[in-house]
Amino acid sequence: MTVMKQLLLGLLATTTAAAVSIRVGSQGNATGGFHYGLLHEDIDNSGDGGLYAELIRNRAFQSSQGYPSSLSGWHPINGAKLSLNNLDEPLSKALSTSMNVAPASPKGQVGFSNDGYWGMDVKVQKYRGSFWVRGDYRGVFTASLQSNITGERFGATQVKSRSRANKWVEHEFVLTPSKSAPSSNNTFAITFEAANLKSASLDFNLISLFPPTFKGRKNGLRIDLVEALEQFHPTLFRLPGGNMLEGRTNTSYWDWKDSIGPLKDRPGFSGVWGYPQTHGLGLLEYLEFAEDLNMELILGVYAGLSLNGDITPKDQLQQFIDDALDEIEFIRGPPDSKWGAVRAQLGHPKPWELKYVEVGNEDWLAGAPAGWNSYKDYRFPMFLEAINKAWFQPTNPDIQVIASGSTYDGHDIPSPGAGDYHLYGEPDAWVRDFSKFDNVKTPHIIGEMASTFPNGGTGWGSGVLRPFPWWGGSIGEAVALISYERNADRVFGALFVCNKMLDRFVPFNILTSLQAPILRNMNRWQWSITMLQFAADPAITTRSTSWYVWELLAAHPITETLPASTDFKPLYYVTGKNEKTQGHVFKAAVYNSTDGADVPVSLTFDGVAAGTTAELTVITGPKDPYGVNDPFTGVNIVQTTKTTVKSDQDGIFSFKLPNLSVAVLGTKGKRKAIRQQW
Ligand SMILES: *[C@@H]1O[C@H](CO)[C@@H](O)[C@H](O)[C@H]1NC(C)=O
Ligand SMILES: *[C@@H]1O[C@H](CO)[C@@H](O)[C@H](O)[C@H]1NC(C)=O
Ligand SMILES: *[C@@H]1O[C@H](CO)[C@@H](O)[C@H](O)[C@H]1NC(C)=O
Ligand SMILES: *[C@@H]1O[C@H](CO)[C@@H](O)[C@H](O)[C@H]1NC(C)=O
Ligand SMILES: *[C@@H]1O[C@H](CO)[C@@H](O)[C@H](O)[C@H]1NC(C)=O
Ligand SMILES: *[C@@H]1O[C@H](CO)[C@@H](O)[C@H](O)[C@H]1NC(C)=O
Repeated sequence: MTVMKQLLLGLLATTTAAAVSIRVGSQGNATGGFHYGLLHEDIDNSGDGGLYAELIRNRAFQSSQGYPSSLSGWHPINGAKLSLNNLDEPLSKALSTSMNVAPASPKGQVGFSNDGYWGMDVKVQKYRGSFWVRGDYRGVFTASLQSNITGERFGATQVKSRSRANKWVEHEFVLTPSKSAPSSNNTFAITFEAANLKSASLDFNLISLFPPTFKGRKNGLRIDLVEALEQFHPTLFRLPGGNMLEGRTNTSYWDWKDSIGPLKDRPGFSGVWGYPQTHGLGLLEYLEFAEDLNMELILGVYAGLSLNGDITPKDQLQQFIDDALDEIEFIRGPPDSKWGAVRAQLGHPKPWELKYVEVGNEDWLAGAPAGWNSYKDYRFPMFLEAINKAWFQPTNPDIQVIASGSTYDGHDIPSPGAGDYHLYGEPDAWVRDFSKFDNVKTPHIIGEMASTFPNGGTGWGSGVLRPFPWWGGSIGEAVALISYERNADRVFGALFVCNKMLDRFVPFNILTSLQAPILRNMNRWQWSITMLQFAADPAITTRSTSWYVWELLAAHPITETLPASTDFKPLYYVTGKNEKTQGHVFKAAVYNSTDGADVPVSLTFDGVAAGTTAELTVITGPKDPYGVNDPFTGVNIVQTTKTTVKSDQDGIFSFKLPNLSVAVLGTKGKRKAIRQQW
């Protein structure tokens, strides 16, 4: 009886808890060091008013193709008359419009205030400001930060005027508030004493105010946002965006030459997402951002297609190829080359490493089919040939050229080019696509991806975009990331990538997945699915559910994928090894387990001894797969559980993974992880 019962129980246990048995072999392939990366593009005010730390909105009254100069963001103080002025002697060729400030009465403080990008964060810290002024004023300017609700002043500083009647003079100041503001609903103001004015009015331009920036860089980036990006361990950065690179028309594409040098020489940019851009976040700022976060670069170059469908004919394309070659030289040429010298003069003599150049952006989309046909016919081949001629050496690959579409967009990409696959989809799409790249012979990057609408929701612009990344969507992204990392290693790739961790070249099939876009200002946006949400108030900065998924998967780099069985549903996984640490890694996502039950896993690695300990990190979400991290409630719905698992006498690691979870198991290697050297 007793024996019987035990037998029955045993049977029951095996039927209800049929563990997924995974045996990981020891002979794999080195990977190209699969990158979890990011793309930044100024969308959702994620550049101006976001990553770029400038607090003053419309600081230089810039105009561009889509946006005439305006006084947007500026308000008069004490009846001052503010007007736009195009002086015969402007501050610079690039900044031709300035703001004229005329007092309403001969005495008293007058001036103007600025709203910032929906407020300004005011703390007891050093703000660095500057402004240019033209006109005869013999007194002091007062620069101040105050509440827009109560008028309370948090800090002010006096700036002695050095202004002159017919000359633009720059004034710089430091402003340290004595008190932190209770909210970010604050303004910045400059006032002056009308009685000390010798001219009838004053002209102002390039009025700027920066809080402390990441690594203290001048003209730098917002600390909390960069830190949140850094903390998900991105290792590759695609710049300068996608559609933004193409521009609205072929006279307003993202021209890198307009984005470098002193701010007064940057004319601004006609943004493609509903607002003008300052170009303050220019090429050099992007490169320094990548340098500060230790990210490699994928440089996107304008390739003769703009969003309105302007296509550059073959006989006019050379100018853009030359621009691209100049840009590459600016980034990685020696300091004695023509453009390397310009870079050195701007304070960065050391060349950057630049190994990937992407020609255009989504050339299959705008102006199709003519745009796409021209890309395949002559635009891509001409760029490929010119860049390879200048930089490519087969034995020591220098620059790998990437096409802006994939094999799946119908591009038979000529060698040695790689492709770029973008997918914004429903979570189920990643499951359907799990094997998509198993046999594709051309190496690819996954240049943009995110779960954007729910299963069954139809595509783009149909109004079903989710309001935030949601847990089920993030699980879909995990399935995708795992499918790509499984494919990071194929030897049939014709291209090679320098695996920094191993310090040698290895073939790659899928190089990277890039989350895009990454940042969204909650005060003005049109794209809701982003890694981080923010506003002027740093308390709003919120890591989305996807941030947690990407962070976990990126924190455990694999340098060699190892073979295991390929039976996946509902557990999707990749297995490998980190050659530097000698640790073994298992990354998995559970998507729709049977009846929502936990999935028992029984995992062995060939060559890993019995009694080895491993750390298992599991992240889970709420019951409702549509749960989100809402910036206005501040509640993080993602739970992280870390446990230590020990392999049994047969070397088996046994554990259970819940429905809709993401997990990483890592054995302790001989050495400490060295993510920072990646
Ligand atoms: C700041 O306060 C004013 C007045 O209460 C209000 O109109 C405005 O919307 C607030 N701005 C922000 C960004 O909260
Ligand atoms: C300040 O308040 C005014 C109106 O009360 C509003 O138009 C403006 O947007 C506010 N500025 C900020 C920074 O919220
Ligand atoms: C710009 O676009 C126009 C209109 O499509 C076209 O006629 C012209 O050749 C293009 N010029 C360049 C340099 O791309
Ligand atoms: C290693 O590469 C070979 C050849 O491309 C491939 O068949 C094999 O599946 C790869 N191994 C792993 C572990 O992915
Ligand atoms: C678990 O999986 C089932 C499919 O079997 C799915 O319908 C359900 O929404 C999932 N989530 C939870 C929290 O149970
Ligand atoms: C997973 O479950 C969800 C919710 O029931 C459903 O919409 C989706 O189609 C399922 N997907 C797969 C791949 O089973």
